[in-house]
Amino acid sequence: MPKTPQVMILGTGRAVPEKVLTNVDLEQMVDTSDDWIVARTGIRQRHVAEPGTALSTLAVEAARNALQSANVAADEIDLIILGTVTGDMKFPAAACFIQEKLGAKNAVAFDLSAACSGFLYGLQIAEGMMANSGYRRVLVLGAEVLTSMVNWQDRDTCVLFGDGAGAVVLGQAVGDRGLLQTCLRTDGAHTGLLYNPGCGSVNPPTVENVQARLHSIRMEGKEVFRHAVTSMTEALKEVLDREGLGVEDLDLLIPHQANLRIIEAVVKRCKIAMDKVYVNVDRYGNTSAASIPIALDELRRSGELKEGALVGMVTFGAGFTWAAGLVRI
Ligand code: UT7
Repeated sequence: MPKTPQVMILGTGRAVPEKVLTNVDLEQMVDTSDDWIVARTGIRQRHVAEPGTALSTLAVEAARNALQSANVAADEIDLIILGTVTGDMKFPAAACFIQEKLGAKNAVAFDLSAACSGFLYGLQIAEGMMANSGYRRVLVLGAEVLTSMVNWQDRDTCVLFGDGAGAVVLGQAVGDRGLLQTCLRTDGAHTGLLYNPGCGSVNPPTVENVQARLHSIRMEGKEVFRHAVTSMTEALKEVLDREGLGVEDLDLLIPHQANLRIIEAVVKRCKIAMDKVYVNVDRYGNTSAASIPIALDELRRSGELKEGALVGMVTFGAGFTWAAGLVRI
């Protein structure tokens, strides 16, 4: 059923580390080539944090930019939701470090672990908490330092990921502008296809486990690819169906930026014109939960997010988790 939006995006922000690692740089580190990476993924470079970088440092920069663009002060924020799987530490939540660094002293803050779907999961949770618990100004972030868990000797995975942070400030909707639909999905049958086995309760960081590199990302790329295409297609159709809309009504689609071939396959199945689809995977690689909010901020700052535009967002990640969202700008 079409929905009257309750919350809208008041501002956006992003931050990426300065250091850029190109495919040519990677050729010196592992048996790969620029040609292979571009042809199989569309990635040309990624931003990489210096070792030891706190995720919260990157996230705070994105948050400050979002607050400034929304014209909202840090102490007006009453809730911070951070989608991440690479927090500063195992605990406390990186959102607590963000709250302190921002000076958002009135905010409740927590992390949300849904891998690449963390930002869209965060949007739905924020909307619910704003409707039911009285939160009025909410910061939703997706931020990752995924390179902190990359094995730079594993060419199957190390060429794919990059670091970054994106943030939005949510407030009460005005008229028909705002968040229309979100659709969240999980299928825990596939936890073994994309995971980091180390550092949790199963494989704590003993010398043996660290030497066995259990703290690095493991992925069955082909299987993940296959599931990503079908799941993202279904979720996007679901949010459009619920609004009684079709793909032709979309002004813009922001897909999760993991692989250009995944994006093209989803777009082909949904029969969406490629010129309505935002792509920046060539510049950032896969930044997991940060990919959609980084794209949102790039689009808003370049003036491409026009007021009244209907924007679709769709993502897929470890868990498996996947999600889609529909927003009227
Ligand atoms: O955010 C959501 C999570 N992640 C994803 O969505 C990623 C999903 N998967 C993918 O994007 C793709 O499966 C990959 C990009 C990871 C791999 O592409 P692919 O077309 O599925 O390649 P493949 O794994 O079938 O590998 C093809 C060949 C293999 O060689 P052989 O066995 O055919 O001789 C690999 O060993 O390419 C080789 N290969 C590489 N060659 C050069 C794998 N990685 C590399 C590399 N450079 N970096």
